[in-house]
Amino acid sequence: MFADNVPSPARADLLSRRVQAIPASGIRRFFELIANMEGVISLGVGEPDFATPQRFTDAAVRALADGETHYTSNYGIPELRQAVSAHLDRLYSVRYDPASEIVVTTGVSEGLLLATHATLDSGDEVLCPDPYYVAYLPCVALAGGVFVPVPTDPENEFRVRAEDIEARVTPQTKAILIGYPANPTGATMTRDDLLALADVAARHNLVVISDEIYDRLTYGLPHTCFASLPGMRERTILLGGFSKAYAMTGWRIGWACAPTDILEAMMKVHQYIIMSAPTPAQYAALEALRNGEDEVQAMVAEYDRRRRLIVDGFNRLGLTCFEPRGAFYAFPSIRSTGLSDHDFAERLLLEEKVAVVPGSAFGECGAGHVRACYAAPIDQLEEALQRIGRFVGRRR
Ligand SMILES: Cc1ncc(COP(=O)(O)O)c(C=O)c1O
Repeated sequence: MFADNVPSPARADLLSRRVQAIPASGIRRFFELIANMEGVISLGVGEPDFATPQRFTDAAVRALADGETHYTSNYGIPELRQAVSAHLDRLYSVRYDPASEIVVTTGVSEGLLLATHATLDSGDEVLCPDPYYVAYLPCVALAGGVFVPVPTDPENEFRVRAEDIEARVTPQTKAILIGYPANPTGATMTRDDLLALADVAARHNLVVISDEIYDRLTYGLPHTCFASLPGMRERTILLGGFSKAYAMTGWRIGWACAPTDILEAMMKVHQYIIMSAPTPAQYAALEALRNGEDEVQAMVAEYDRRRRLIVDGFNRLGLTCFEPRGAFYAFPSIRSTGLSDHDFAERLLLEEKVAVVPGSAFGECGAGHVRACYAAPIDQLEEALQRIGRFVGRRR
């Protein structure tokens, strides 16, 4: 069910080998199936159910009415870069010069592509904890790099160990790519975990691409910004954005920060492929950073309520789930059902109309788990748990 079409040899000649080598998405057909079904409770897609707070939208509408319909500076409007700089200083005491060390991107998606294209040559290896966000491998491969997954396990709550990273360092290793709080597991890293990683990065002279898009969505464990660790700012590309904490997925807006030499390399890619991030979205984002804190806090409190419900629910059903301390995902083990994660997700969808994502779509270490996004209203989560309970009950 999940296999994608493979082009015939003659058609394949029309395509780049680099693109063909990228594995087809393990979940695309699954989402197509959902689109054609009625009554599905989707815990599949990783995006907030909340609408963008009205005042952010109003700021964009005002900007449009004021004629802000042109390209901006390639770097983004100065006010937004200043606001990002002040925001990171306030939260993490890390300082970036708005004039030369920050670029406004079309989401962290673009930031990932800029980071890999600016730093990798053909054959350079990038170490990344497995399971990993689905775009990480393609972003490395599209830049000609070699993606090297580093196993993590539920016993360590899917936090990567520095020694496991170091064991895979070779003369070709160029970068470490980390994302925390993590998609798909909801795991986050402690300051000590990160200090150990920083030590490896420094000793082997590695770039660290740190995807911190979920930094605001943490529950009881404060977020440590990688660039704030001693000596790390100079080798870190810090990616952040608005999609998750500010409920702004459709606006396509984020930021990338790096020391000037690295940022200038990223700018060479950004200015030719994007030019500048969407102008109205930049004004909405500016409002979000300047005046959106209450909205963020309210959404985080609601996610936390849902998180407790779903994690308790899975554990009660015998689907062992460690406590995710960040993002909005739970990652229970489904091994007790005797099903593979693909079969579990497919049958749950067909029999009970609940969509979750098979864990192995995020790398080998995700096998035997499913990802459930709890950015859905509480009553839907309750109903989903009941349906999953019926489904699991039939397997025992
Ligand atoms: C870990 C991670 N990084 C980046 C992205 C992409 O974010 P954006 O909407 O800012 O492009 C996502 C979206 O799901 C994500 O989960």
